Amino acid sequence: MAFSSMPDKTIQQTPPRSWPQGQRRRLAVLVSGRGSNLQALHQSAQAYGFALDWLIVANRKDSKGLIWARDHGLETELLLHSDFASREEFDRQLAYRLNRFEPHLVVLAGFMRILTDVFFGAFHGPTINIHPSLLPAYPGLQTHARALQDGVAVHGATVHSVTPQVDHGPILAQAVLGVSHQDDEKRLGARVLEMEHKLLPMVTWALLRDDLQLIDGRWSLCRPQSDLPQGLQFSSCLFHPQLVVSPR
Ligand code: GAR
Repeated sequence: MAFSSMPDKTIQQTPPRSWPQGQRRRLAVLVSGRGSNLQALHQSAQAYGFALDWLIVANRKDSKGLIWARDHGLETELLLHSDFASREEFDRQLAYRLNRFEPHLVVLAGFMRILTDVFFGAFHGPTINIHPSLLPAYPGLQTHARALQDGVAVHGATVHSVTPQVDHGPILAQAVLGVSHQDDEKRLGARVLEMEHKLLPMVTWALLRDDLQLIDGRWSLCRPQSDLPQGLQFSSCLFHPQLVVSPR
């Protein structure tokens, strides 16, 4: 792992590039709760003027993300897991709904549900997840508390491809911060979340622009000097080595 201490000026100065004019991209976002990452994605898309059709799928009716999406006129689908006899039936319906939408990309943004092989057998589109730790450290829940308990010096967030193994799959990008003596679980969580809100849009737009390709289980940039959206600047950041972003 290497810090992006040498920002690439060419990348910095290139204006954000969208997909070809006149084209739209279909983006499905799966949420369970608050939906702040969904909102960050939406705000980023608005800021760059990216042409997107959205489908927001939630598995909880009290999901604030779902309510926010409805309030903002996005297409939504509520799939209550309690309505399904088994995890597999839920997954079959989820895959069916996504296949109907034909998304270019599916983003799990706080979707707190384990997907079974039934889902992966029925839906084959690219799917990514954001997780609040530097995977492979701290998969699962309570990531900030566990990191503090272990006294780690660095912590952060990861965007990775979704595979049947929870919180695993090829890593696309990571954002890292130094843990401070002032951090408690709440403060550390808030600091990581702020980084998630920049990391997730960056990776999402790169994938929708076909800037990244998976070769032998590892992600790499298709173009050696692919431009990244402006405004994605972190004070202390670690990324996939090819996704260089300048410090603030
Ligand atoms: C985020 O911190 C996300 O990384 C995490 O849930 C939170 C959702 O927040 N995801 C996971 O833990 C997945 N294993 P949000 O609903 O405000 O975007």
